[in-house]
Amino acid sequence: MENCYGLVLAAGEGKRMKSKLPKVLHKVCGKAMIDHVINALMGAGVEDFQVVVGHKADEVKAYLGDNIKTSYQSEQLGTGHAVMCSRDFLRNKEGTVIILAGDAPLITAETISKVFEYHNSKGYSATVLTADTENPEGFGRIVRDEHGDIRKIVEHKDASHEERLIKEINSGTYCFNINDLLNALNKLTNNNAQGEYYLTDVIEILKNEGRKVGAYKSSFTEFMGVNTRAQLYEANEVMRKRILMKLMLDGVTIIDPSSTYIDDGVVIGMDTIIYPGTIIEGKSVIGEDCVIGPNSRIVDSEIQNGVEVQSSVVLESKIMDKAKVGPFAYIRPGSQIGKKVKIGDFVEIKKSVIGDGTKVSHLTYIGDAEVGSDCNFGCGTVVVNYDGTRKYKTKIGNHAFIGCNTNLVAPVELGDNAYVAAGSTITEDVPEGALAVARSRQVNKEGWVDKKGIWKK
Ligand code: UD1
Ligand code: CA
Repeated sequence: MENCYGLVLAAGEGKRMKSKLPKVLHKVCGKAMIDHVINALMGAGVEDFQVVVGHKADEVKAYLGDNIKTSYQSEQLGTGHAVMCSRDFLRNKEGTVIILAGDAPLITAETISKVFEYHNSKGYSATVLTADTENPEGFGRIVRDEHGDIRKIVEHKDASHEERLIKEINSGTYCFNINDLLNALNKLTNNNAQGEYYLTDVIEILKNEGRKVGAYKSSFTEFMGVNTRAQLYEANEVMRKRILMKLMLDGVTIIDPSSTYIDDGVVIGMDTIIYPGTIIEGKSVIGEDCVIGPNSRIVDSEIQNGVEVQSSVVLESKIMDKAKVGPFAYIRPGSQIGKKVKIGDFVEIKKSVIGDGTKVSHLTYIGDAEVGSDCNFGCGTVVVNYDGTRKYKTKIGNHAFIGCNTNLVAPVELGDNAYVAAGSTITEDVPEGALAVARSRQVNKEGWVDKKGIWKK
């Protein structure tokens, strides 16, 4: 959008969060609140934007990275003062700036675009985004004149009894003509209940100068500000439902949305079914026709098509077409589970590649290994990858068969078609096609029990 800019206020401490973490870095559906606001701004296509940082500025800046421009408010003297601190950013610009609060993560790109359009088409000096709410406690109130036009915003702490009855609140989001805003900022004072420079007072200043000021009313949920952990939960709930609703409309079946948690940005393909108690986090991508859950957690993983993950945890791994994982499996970071692989109950895979069609059906640990295709792991196989100081690699070819209760002591290699007898502790490589037996032979001592006099009548 031409001549449209953004400014995000994120310098406040957020005392009511009772947290060491700066408020805007608290997460809503997997992303910091500030990320949601920035994504909405970028989604609306602003030409440029800046974030005002202050409290724990270094931490917030480090989180934002070098690509996001910031201005610095050394002392938190109010929202108006925060905007003054970005004068350098605004000064040489013509057009409109939208000001957003970093602690209001539910705003959407669509709303931002609509407000810009509304503001510019009406030729307003300022447009305040407002909403009606049954519980306006704590918010600035929109005071209108006898014609219904907005006259000023009064902060809750400064409001009279009558003003506190007003149910229309200031969302803390505004569009301003940049020149008019810069001029009005020069006239701001901190003569109020909190001794702060209120950005909200700019409205009355512009009004008194005879400029046109408008209001854009929208749904309260989009403006919900987060000041406490309870409100953080509420914002999460709103965002969570939005995400689930969108997935369902895109063809994903979600059996029980009330127990399903999916982060913003997770991609899920058509005809995948999500069972209750499932959490899908981070940069996860899930294909079509999968069955995920119940009771599964998937973090930063790529799950291809037709995969089943039941009561399992999958972290930073890739699971390929038609593989079955679980119940009760643990796939740890850096693993790749091949096509049609079966990872069964009580199996842990760590930083290993498992080739297509291999079966690891029960009670097995595989760590730091490269396993070929169509192998079979018997129940209770352990890849012994750690000697107390170092970790070692294990390599297994295609079509290997590993008997039950086997230790594979790394570093070790098994060739293609190698067989390992049950109960073996393998410390040396097994050549292609060989059978390895690494346990003592069975001896039966006939009549031993009678001779010992056990079970004597
Ligand atoms: C503000 C509005 C209020 C509105 C409400 C909506 C003012 C004076 N009041 O109140 O009318 O109903 O938002 O949620 O603007 N910030 C700074 N520097 C400061 C102070 C604040 O950057 O010196 C930032 C905060 O980090 C936050 C945002 O501005 O992201 C809003 O500040 P906050 O103190 O939460 O304002 P409210 O009291 O909620
Ligand atoms: Ca607030």
